[in-house]
Amino acid sequence: NYQPTPEDKFSFGLWTVGWQGRDPFGDATRPALDPVESVRRLAELGAWGVTFHDDDLIPFGSTDAERERIVKRFREALDTHGLVVPMATTNLFTHPVFKDGGFTSNDRDVRRYALRKVIRNIDLAAELGAETYVAWGGREGAESGGAKDIRLALDRMKEAFDLLGEYVTEQGYDLRFAIEPKPNEPRGDILLPTVGHALAFIERLERPELYGVNPEVGHEQMAGLNFAHGIAQALWSGKLFHLDLNGQNGIKYDQDLRFGAGDLRNAFWLVDLLETAGYEGPRHFDFKPPRTEDFDGVWASAAGCMRNYLILKERAAAFRADPKVQEALKAARLDQLALPTAEDGLASLLGDKSAYEDFDVEAAAERGMAFEALDQLATDHLLGVK
Ligand code: GCO
Ligand code: MN
Ligand code: MN
Ligand code: MN
Repeated sequence: NYQPTPEDKFSFGLWTVGWQGRDPFGDATRPALDPVESVRRLAELGAWGVTFHDDDLIPFGSTDAERERIVKRFREALDTHGLVVPMATTNLFTHPVFKDGGFTSNDRDVRRYALRKVIRNIDLAAELGAETYVAWGGREGAESGGAKDIRLALDRMKEAFDLLGEYVTEQGYDLRFAIEPKPNEPRGDILLPTVGHALAFIERLERPELYGVNPEVGHEQMAGLNFAHGIAQALWSGKLFHLDLNGQNGIKYDQDLRFGAGDLRNAFWLVDLLETAGYEGPRHFDFKPPRTEDFDGVWASAAGCMRNYLILKERAAAFRADPKVQEALKAARLDQLALPTAEDGLASLLGDKSAYEDFDVEAAAERGMAFEALDQLATDHLLGVK
């Protein structure tokens, strides 16, 4: 009956169900939600974890005493309702001081402040047992060409991540960083816009093993990219530390629909991939219940995220188990793709006349790939048609 349990490892950001519906054109449509209430309701719905930006939990500008009281109350709620904090992150985008970014602001004092703000929340994340620290650089970017020297900005970005890596190493924290790519919004163009950019950037860092990615469904799809393919490459690179599940309808503003809304077909392949690849990390939802909704709609939307994941998980498993699918996979030669191309070595490849001189190019070109029959079987399973 698709009832989530903690074993499913579903987690939600406080900022998701807590989003008040404020957008560039309209005011909030819902009152603020107490984080403790979110913890209670999410636990009731079957979630396993909750995540937060520093400012979601502790309002910006709180005194140390307020901060202490808030954290204590939050901890008590976690204990009472049995939720964990698998991940935390920093808000380096709301306050006007970050209008030109945090790690890559042209202003050095802003960059130093941003690093201190992150480090302060890393201490709290470690205290609460988080294993992943997400870094989404929403304001790291530009609207115009002369405003940012991108190579210098990348130097500053590297410097920031290297310092943070040094900090967690010195403190002995069991915490790894997950960089969240996004192509645009709120900046015209954001640095590290896609999974591929982030993966390449990580390799330039001093301790690359400490950094992975936190790809978000909608962010890759906003750029017209295939999210499941991006996740596959992150897995292949050993860098899928975390992920943000939601829904998006193609190339437009960041919709943050509930998971399963938007590109349902890609969601099917995504769940199929995560489940067959043995991904063991959190299934984290970063969505926004539309501003048309009251709180009943908010909780319906959160429940829908988990329900859709479980339905897709069941459908993907049925697809994989279907003997007709196994035949179709064979007909499409997926078994051949699994074979190395030249395990006999370069010399043997060069000496193999059947590989070139005697190869019947025309006959090979005539073979159909049988992909359409395979994809129709996937569609049947996705739609629940036996
Ligand atoms: C967005 C981003 C954020 C981040 C969050 C975590 O487009 O708004 O997805 O929701 O995931 O800030 O750092
Ligand atoms: Mn988004
Ligand atoms: Mn978002
Ligand atoms: Mn996100």
